[in-house]
Amino acid sequence: MIAQDLILDAKVNKKALNWAELGFQYIKTDYRFAATHENGEWGKGQLLADEVISIHEGAPSLHYAQQCFEGMKAQTAEDGRILLFRPELNCERMRRTAPRLLMPEIPEELFMQAIEETVRANYAWIPPFGSGASLYIRPMLIGVGENLGLNPAQQYEFRVFVSPVGPYYKEAGLAVISLAVSEIDRAAPNGTGSFKAGANYAGGLLATRKAKELGANEALYLDAAEHRYIDEAGSANIVIATKSGKFITPSSNAILPSITRRSIMDLASKHLDMVTEERPIDLRAEFDDFDEMGACGTAAVLSPVGKIWFDDEWHKIFQDGQTVGPIMQELYDLLVGIQKGELADEFGWLHEVDI
Ligand code: PLP
Ligand code: COI
Repeated sequence: MIAQDLILDAKVNKKALNWAELGFQYIKTDYRFAATHENGEWGKGQLLADEVISIHEGAPSLHYAQQCFEGMKAQTAEDGRILLFRPELNCERMRRTAPRLLMPEIPEELFMQAIEETVRANYAWIPPFGSGASLYIRPMLIGVGENLGLNPAQQYEFRVFVSPVGPYYKEAGLAVISLAVSEIDRAAPNGTGSFKAGANYAGGLLATRKAKELGANEALYLDAAEHRYIDEAGSANIVIATKSGKFITPSSNAILPSITRRSIMDLASKHLDMVTEERPIDLRAEFDDFDEMGACGTAAVLSPVGKIWFDDEWHKIFQDGQTVGPIMQELYDLLVGIQKGELADEFGWLHEVDI
């Protein structure tokens, strides 16, 4: 266990990082939380100093990708409160993903305790209000222990680590990004696309590389059956404001149900009074009706998309040099304003961590 006086010291002495310069990279913080599941039961779990996990060479997470993860952020409000954004939805999503991969569900109390303890213990690493950075929280569940054949693990580790981060895409804040449609598929219609399984991301590494070679920030996946409807980007869902005045997002059983998207759809409907629709979006047939497009997620926040590569050419939503459009700007301001505690939490989305 970690001595209380060390945690108290961290509260007084924030780390001397250049917060405004942070990108989305791993920075080792002081503590992480780990709990193990053995003989059908979860242990109590504890904070650890060691960032290295030692597991058996036969562990099913290493060979057969029996693992899943989550991503969320903690922010510092102007009055010093430490705020999490809808963490119960991350918990729910992990509890839905785990049984899909034959892993044990994490009890809600254990999940929340692990998040809160890790955030609290790393108080010194939480970027201050106004720095533009936040504390990224990465819960993960992995199958450990001896194994060889294609079997679920006999033991599991649930771990939560944190890292202070800046913007996910190199372009800071609301700068416009570009996407390239991938010829490689991310997820089959009845596969694991709607679960936050690491295997989905390993399969997408090549697509991301190819997108970057074309000069795009990320890959954009179309549905695997027809390569016609928009699924999602490599690490974010897609939202679109149409010229005909609607706010739309793809319905697909192969995409990760994004917590950020769900929140943005609510904001578009309740604050911008837009008609919102979750439905299949035919990229080629509907492109000319796209007024503004955004890629949204915990890491991506809401990044406006300026152009898309498909059918061997760039298709522009924005002209070169144009910055964010008014709808994505307003939604970004609302979302980030709520997340940082600057705007009223009218939907009850915030969860304060007692420090
Ligand atoms: N889609 C993918 C593939 C992701 O990795 C993420 C990130 O978590 C998202 C969408 C956005 O989900 P959320 O808003 O819950 O972070
Ligand atoms: C997140 O946004 O939390 C994610 O998990 C995306 C990841 C690829 C960084």
